[in-house]
Amino acid sequence: MSETKNFQVPSPMPEKLHKVIEGFFLSKALFAACEFGIFDKLRSASSPQSADDITKALSSDLDATTRLMDTLVAMELLEKSKQGDQWLYSNSEMATKFLTKDSPDSYLDMISMRNKTTYPIFGNLESAVLEGTTQELLTKVATKNDLLREIWSVRRGLHQIVGKIQDFCSNSVEKLCKLLLFTRKIATNALTPAVGTLAYAFCQYYPEMKITVCDLEPAVSLAHHFRPSVEACPNQANVSFAVGDFFKPETIPKADLYVLSHVLHDWSEDKVDLILSNVYKCLPSGGGLLICEQILDEDKSGPLHALIYSIYMLVLTGGKERSASEYKHLLEKHGFVDVQAKKVYFSKDVIFCRKM
Ligand SMILES: C[S@@+](CC[C@H](N)C(=O)[O-])C[C@H]1O[C@@H](n2cnc3c(N)ncnc32)[C@H](O)[C@@H]1O
Repeated sequence: MSETKNFQVPSPMPEKLHKVIEGFFLSKALFAACEFGIFDKLRSASSPQSADDITKALSSDLDATTRLMDTLVAMELLEKSKQGDQWLYSNSEMATKFLTKDSPDSYLDMISMRNKTTYPIFGNLESAVLEGTTQELLTKVATKNDLLREIWSVRRGLHQIVGKIQDFCSNSVEKLCKLLLFTRKIATNALTPAVGTLAYAFCQYYPEMKITVCDLEPAVSLAHHFRPSVEACPNQANVSFAVGDFFKPETIPKADLYVLSHVLHDWSEDKVDLILSNVYKCLPSGGGLLICEQILDEDKSGPLHALIYSIYMLVLTGGKERSASEYKHLLEKHGFVDVQAKKVYFSKDVIFCRKM
């Protein structure tokens, strides 16, 4: 009797905590479905498919495949309906738009990179927190993963993800361009590293601007894969490509606006200083620098996505995210003036400054 009295029923886990603990279950279910091409198979089929059809196409296990597909239904990525005694599956609208390879809005390459690099790399977080980012840790991270090894073989450090994903900022470029009307006043000639998504969006909003995408040779050699059609981007002739290295100022083409989008957060403090001093040297007086990164709140209590990214950068490259006042301090140290920071869109913000 006394034993029963002393027994304490554990409190139920708060849903919020539960979601955090098991959040990676959902990511991994999505990653597996994308790796197996389930959404593409359902899209290319002329009618909804049974789990048995998909199992045969994948040469997989029927029970396991059915459970994965039912989980995707609960995640609102698939829909299912009963025909006779059989359940048939089809893609949800969201899956067709974002999770099939022929869709212009496909995120499959990005998801594949998350699965093959981010997911295993994040496992090094404990070491990174204990040791800080060491060269040893970065080497360990890189040598553990085929894709990263390939990336690092181009140049030490994470420089080269082009070809695996389009520019990270592609889902915010429209909002970004609308906000950047002030750049029009100073820029006739802009320069940015990447495969061009930002550049093509810029040329639509600023038809008078000539834009050079300047990146390392492997990125530039892949850039033609990402060139949109003239119908999709009538001003695309304003975008050209040049090989250059932002650590070697003599290789950087001249421009009156330099755009560093998701570049600075990749690098350690000394390398960030080098990049900024090179950009400053190359800019003419009155020219501008536009930085696209996630901006942390001043008290560093959010946004959550930017904080998580700052930890991710710690593990992956030794870089970090910064607050608006940290950017101001950093840029003023290099001689830039009129530093303005603006929040744009979920996880994509901008900092603009000028050379006197
Ligand atoms: C994280 S990606 C950002 C791509 C794109 N700007 C965006 O916003 O998504 C970093 C880019 O910097 C380029 N990069 C790395 N090292 C470089 C260097 N030394 N000189 C020029 N570009 C470099 C990479 O090739 C890659 O395109």
